[in-house]
Formats: sequence, structure tokens, C-alpha cells
Amino acid sequence: MPDLSLLPPSAAIEGEDLRIGGCLVSDLAQRFGTPAYLLDEGALRARSREYLTALTSRHQRGRVCFAVKAYPSVSMIKLLASEGLGCDVVGAGELRLALAAGASPASIVMHGNAKSDQDIESALAARIGYIVVDGFDDIDRIEKLARERTPVLLRVVPGIESATHAALATGGKQSKFGVPVEQVPEAIARMRATATIDLQGLHAHIGSQILTVEEFEAAVAALASLERFGVYDFGGGLGVRYQPGDSAPSVDEYVGRLVGAAQRHLGTDIDILLEPGRSIVAQAGVTLYRVVTVKRAGKLHVAVDGGMGDNLEPSLYGQRFAPLVVGRWDAEPVLADLVGRHCESGDVITPDVPLADPRIGDLVVVPVTGAYCFTMANNYNAALRPPVIYCDNGVARVGVRRETFDDLLAREVS
Ligand code: LLP
Repeated sequence: MPDLSLLPPSAAIEGEDLRIGGCLVSDLAQRFGTPAYLLDEGALRARSREYLTALTSRHQRGRVCFAVKAYPSVSMIKLLASEGLGCDVVGAGELRLALAAGASPASIVMHGNAKSDQDIESALAARIGYIVVDGFDDIDRIEKLARERTPVLLRVVPGIESATHAALATGGKQSKFGVPVEQVPEAIARMRATATIDLQGLHAHIGSQILTVEEFEAAVAALASLERFGVYDFGGGLGVRYQPGDSAPSVDEYVGRLVGAAQRHLGTDIDILLEPGRSIVAQAGVTLYRVVTVKRAGKLHVAVDGGMGDNLEPSLYGQRFAPLVVGRWDAEPVLADLVGRHCESGDVITPDVPLADPRIGDLVVVPVTGAYCFTMANNYNAALRPPVIYCDNGVARVGVRRETFDDLLAREVS
């Protein structure tokens, strides 16, 4: 029997089929087509509560803001907001989604290393909780555009090189994000001299898919070495398991250690904000594909009806996944490249991966695609972006419909 530990908690084998959120994947494939992003709604709710409980049971003045970039859909923001999460948005676009989802403006924090006037104007107009100042130009822009006192946080680069993929590390000295520690006093002084800027606290986000809690503790210590404030936003970044052999800290361990460090270094009289993205949504999601061809050439290539159009993680970060061939639970696995249908050799969902006797027409489930896959979906080869289907207690509902050929043509002007 296959290892189901990477699938959403509701996953259960039923004969030759698989249930996610109580729904049979064969039914889902028939109703909604493939490829499709499936989400276990109960898992999303449970994970949100786990975060809130882990934080507020240890620190009353704690808030969890979902990093919208990990799943920028109104349907997702609405669901997580109904569980009490706020939002971390980057720019006017994600803010628009958050507001369309009915998120309370006060619960929204805006980031961005290159905020345009439009980004800042939209944040000011909506009166969001905090704009996170990322550099001196943000200070100039807020000064130019704000008509009233505006609460802000300052993003600090703590100088921590985290042990994650280089593209996902944001806390090192060479980072394009935030203000280096040595420039922080000058940035604070500039903000204090600006009547419309109300600097309330500090922020650090050291990267994503981080699996060692010590790195987060080090970031807390780095912020604590600076002038003290009433608000601390410790960002997101907790990593998740992608393959059976992986291990990752639990939410409770991560939050416990982070809050412990914060209270030790900064005391209890502070607001703590966390901004998890990946660790809220990753494991609640799977991608459902159908096998289109099985080619035995120099290598065994099993090609499905999606690929780098719906999952850029392998090509951008070398991320490996652990796909399952639905129904062939006891079949002898063969080593194959699970590839996509896009026109380049880099379109490999996972190379050299054991697959159980895959045949044309089989359904393949790729676990842990809940974070950043929907985000970075694209139209390479004019592929249509997949729908998002929420599954809960045997009921499936569409959160985002599949793209259509008309959608592809909709922006063409000629
Ligand atoms: N807060 C800030 C300021 C961030 O920049 C990010 C992620 C988060 C929170 C959420 O981090 P998480 O908990 O999801 O690790 N495209 C990449 C991920 C880039 C993450 C960027 N910032 C990927 O597909 O892996």
C-alpha cells in the first residue's frame, strides 16, 4: 500500500479509487476534468486553527496573516479569513483580491520591495493595518502620498543566510528585500521626521521552505538587537514535507520556539504577527492529472496532461514530488520520469521517480501542490490554467473555474 502521509489528512483509499475531502478523485476527474487543483477544505481550516491556537495560547496579542502569494485566490482568502486569519499582500493586485474576499482592511499588511505609487495609494485608500516599509524610497513615497498618519512597520534584513534554495532565501546581506541592520537607525530617524508616518514596529522574513527553527530564533534575536517597538512581524517561511523521507517541524514546535524567543528577547508586552503561506496550504492541495502517453525510449517517460504550466516548482527550484498512480496500489513500481506536455525538456514534474505500472488513462495524484503552484500557473503552449476544486465531506465545489480558450483570446486587441 502506498504512503499516504503526504496527502491531505482526509485522503483515504477506496478500492481502486482515492477520496480527498470525502470525494472520489475519479468522480472529480469526470466532473471537472484534468488537470485540476484539489483542496481539502477541512485541512485548510484545521491548519488555520492550529496556527491560531499555537500562537494565541502562548501569546495573547498574536495575529496570523496568510501570505496571499501562496494561493492568490479570493476563494482561499475568504475561507481562511472565515477562520480568523488576516492577510499579507504584495502590491495593489493581491490587495484587490483580499478586499474582494471581504478581508477586513485592518487585518491586512502590505509588503513589496518595489512598491509603486499605485500600490501605496491603494493601501492608503483601503486604510490597511500596516504598510511594510522596505527601503528609503517607500518612505519618500508614503510621505508624498499620505494625507493622514499611516501605521507602518520597517522590514529589516537580519543578515541570516538560510539553508533553503537560493531563490527562496531573503534574509541574507545581499538581499533585495528590506533595510540592512546598519541602515536601520537612519531609516527610523527619517520616518520619525515624517508627520504622516507612524512607525509601530519591525519585520523580518528570512525566506521560504525553511526547516530549521534555529534560523527563525536567530531572526528574532537580530530584531531584538535594535531599538524596541510594540509590534513585531516575524514573517512566514516554515517549510513542509514534499517527499516521504522529508521531515519538517510541526506548526506547534515552530510557533512555540518563535514565541519563546520573542518573549525571552522582547518581553510579553508586544504584538506578534506571523505570515505563513506554504505551511497553511501546501499539504491541503494535490494536483490531479491523467496519463496521456507512456513512452519507452532512452528512458521511461510518463507524460500527463499538465506540467510546468501548472507546477513550476521543479523547474524553478528543483523541487521533487512523490506522485501516486491512482488504483495501482499494489503494482510493482517502475522508475520513470513523470513529465508534462509542454514543449521543453525541463518540463519534468519529477525525474526518476517510482511509479506503479502507469498506463494511458490512469489518474495521477501529485501531493503537496497546495502552495505556489496555482500562484505561478502560466499559459505556456497556450495551456489552460486548471480549476481549483474545494472538497469537503464528500461535497466538491469550484473555487476557480478552468480557463477557456476565450480567456486566452480575451486580452488580444487586434
Ligand atoms: N512574508 C513575506 C514577507 C514573504 O515574502 C513570504 C514569501 C511569506 C511571508 C510567506 O512565506 P511562506 O510561509 O510561504 O514560506 N515562489 C516560491 C516561494 C516564494 C516565497 C516568497 N515570500 C515557491 O514557489 O516556493
